[in-house]
Amino acid sequence: MTFRYELLRTDPSTGARRGTFHTPHGPVQTPGFMPVGTQGTVKGLTIDQVAGTGAEMILGNTYHLALRPGPETVRALGGLHAMFGWEGPILTDSGGFQIFSLKDINKITEHSVVFRSHIDGAIIDLTPERSIEIQEALGSDVAMVLDHVVALPAEPDEVQMAMERSIRWAERCLNAAGRSDQARFAIVQGGLDVPLRVQCARELSSMGFEGYAVGGLSVGEAPAEMYRITGATTPELPTDKPRYLMGVGRPVDLLESVMRGIDLFDCVMPTRNGRNGLAFTDLGPIKIRNAKHRHATEPLEPECPCLACTRHTRGYLRHLFIAGEMLGPILMSLHNLTYYQRLMQGAREAIEAGTLAEYVAEKKRGWGIS
Ligand code: GUN
Ligand code: ZN
Repeated sequence: MTFRYELLRTDPSTGARRGTFHTPHGPVQTPGFMPVGTQGTVKGLTIDQVAGTGAEMILGNTYHLALRPGPETVRALGGLHAMFGWEGPILTDSGGFQIFSLKDINKITEHSVVFRSHIDGAIIDLTPERSIEIQEALGSDVAMVLDHVVALPAEPDEVQMAMERSIRWAERCLNAAGRSDQARFAIVQGGLDVPLRVQCARELSSMGFEGYAVGGLSVGEAPAEMYRITGATTPELPTDKPRYLMGVGRPVDLLESVMRGIDLFDCVMPTRNGRNGLAFTDLGPIKIRNAKHRHATEPLEPECPCLACTRHTRGYLRHLFIAGEMLGPILMSLHNLTYYQRLMQGAREAIEAGTLAEYVAEKKRGWGIS
């Protein structure tokens, strides 16, 4: 088997799992966090810097890469791994999320979602089959199925219709021609409705995908709702396949979801917030532009091994942001990705030691969350 999820340990007091996801480009330790490289780059960082944070798998996006540089260009450049210069595993999202995030420039039918390119106005007709075909050309290790993501709150009819369509589209993706060295992950939809989520998870599970994602969350609902839905969905998924919570989230969201049986995460938050001057730390977020950091000689985080923390002061980082220097966003992205990787490393060790609940409680105390 090219892909295999090895379940090493299940935490008896939470639902957390410690495992290894084996892919053709190497193993991924779970719970794990995947930095986002939407456009073929984790913004601001070299690939060596990304690897240096401890990341094992990164993410690309079908919609963005299909528009620019285009699947045939990626193929001509040797596929995503060669183009990125990244030898580890890569997952590509399907374009389904852009149904939600670019809702003003798309039209959705049973057949497909038609986008008017946000770059040049060109029409792209994304069917489930075409999404798989593009992801095949990109050459990612994991292809996500095309799904229908709705913004919340939404009418119950709309949520149910999108969930049922997501199941039909998942089946079309599964039946599309593909490559044997690329896994396909299904995506559970169903809004905040537990019976819909359970139905969706069960139907997708019966189709035999190589992994399962929980989608349609972090789209406007309260964190407690997200935890409730995640906690109701994971028990319906196969235990011998990885579970991936898409687009989530804050550090606390990752830990809460690990306790509910999630293995993989991705989110733009560490890089996007880093670029905007917000650093994650064990004592909560730091807004580096704040005047109180002007003369601060301490690092962002004393124990952090990243370049921003080992070589520079808060005062210098603040100066870089105030002066509009590009090194500021670079160093803060590096720190935040390092922070997320260390958080997941800590969770993995705590699951192995049987101390996850204590680990989470201690982190939450530091963040000032009860
Ligand atoms: N990214 C974050 N959430 C989602 C989702 O529900 N579907 C897809 N395809 N991508 C996502
Ligand atoms: Zn750091």
